[in-house]
Amino acid sequence: QELELKLEMLEKGGFDHFMLKEIYEQPRSIRDCMRGRIYPEEGKVQLGGIKEFVEKLKNIDRIIIVACGTSWHAGLVGEYLIEEYARIPVEVEYASEFRYRNPIITEKDVVIAISQSGETADTMAAIEMAKERGATIFGICNVAGASIPRLTHAGVYTHAGPEIGVASTKAFTAQVTVLTLMAFYMAQQKGTITQSKLVGLLTELDNIPNKIQIALESNDLIKEVASKIKDSRNCLFLGRGSGFPVALEGALKLKEISYIHAEGYPAAEMKHGPIALIDEEMPVVFIATQNSSYEKVISNIQEVKARKGKVIAIVTQGDTEVKKMADYCIEIPDSDEAFLPLLATIPLQLLSYHIAVMRGCNVDQPRNLAKSVTVE
Ligand code: AGP
Repeated sequence: QELELKLEMLEKGGFDHFMLKEIYEQPRSIRDCMRGRIYPEEGKVQLGGIKEFVEKLKNIDRIIIVACGTSWHAGLVGEYLIEEYARIPVEVEYASEFRYRNPIITEKDVVIAISQSGETADTMAAIEMAKERGATIFGICNVAGASIPRLTHAGVYTHAGPEIGVASTKAFTAQVTVLTLMAFYMAQQKGTITQSKLVGLLTELDNIPNKIQIALESNDLIKEVASKIKDSRNCLFLGRGSGFPVALEGALKLKEISYIHAEGYPAAEMKHGPIALIDEEMPVVFIATQNSSYEKVISNIQEVKARKGKVIAIVTQGDTEVKKMADYCIEIPDSDEAFLPLLATIPLQLLSYHIAVMRGCNVDQPRNLAKSVTVE
């Protein structure tokens, strides 16, 4: 037994939990995910897995993304990116709903199925149905040789390495990275992006692992913030644009490992209901980085402060505006808006991790949850 314990400690690489190890692995896992796929100086993205479908991709009318849980959140980020850069309409569906909804799918459709494990029952059933109806299926998967990569016509592996913690962390950021690459690839093929813009974006993307490393350096501060809100019964996560899926992911992370009831919402939707929940007991986590929705998020923060909510804000390094209002600010490095989800997710992962540890929860194996949901 002592040997087993030692082995486990070795596997955790000096970290207390697999989840923490996997959070810290992200600069490397994202680099692995991009290796051989981006050429910033040339402004080129190369995705061997889907190369033979280039002609199809140039002419498709829409893309349907199917996934569950965290992978579905990555799909939402993908929707923003693909629509923004490749100008292809995207629908993001919960695989469990899609498979039973008699959706309209034709041979013209491309379905992207996202799954860390490659074994999620609902996602597999959704793929099978779409395939029967003639759609072309791409997979984004982490586990090589799993069932989903075998079911799809083509795909791109995330190469994040084994993810042991039940809460998905590095697999999520790798999925988002692949979707970013796919969006740029399709944009390049369709001619919806200029070469100089692509050079700029790829140069920045290449630097994202370093910026994630910087984001990780806020760990001590995040731990302190965690200690202030760890006894809350509820928590809201709000964001706009691609900050919205980040908010959803932040809420899912918190609820699954700390058992605190958490909800993610588009910040503007707050006044259509959730605002009724806000009082001095309610922590509200905002994605308030300096991007196109910054000013709007600031007014949402003011609305929360006016009702005595406790505001924790993820802000851009050097921010002064939000700092005047928020109770706690956690900085992330500035970057192009396209990469906001990759950076803003990091502090939220650490925040739920520390809260869960402080509450004495089993971080790596939360109650009632399995790493891959192979039954419906
Ligand atoms: C994430 O933290 C979850 N544990 C869960 O939502 C997971 O993302 C979902 O079950 C989908 O799994 P998959 O990516 O392996 O298909």
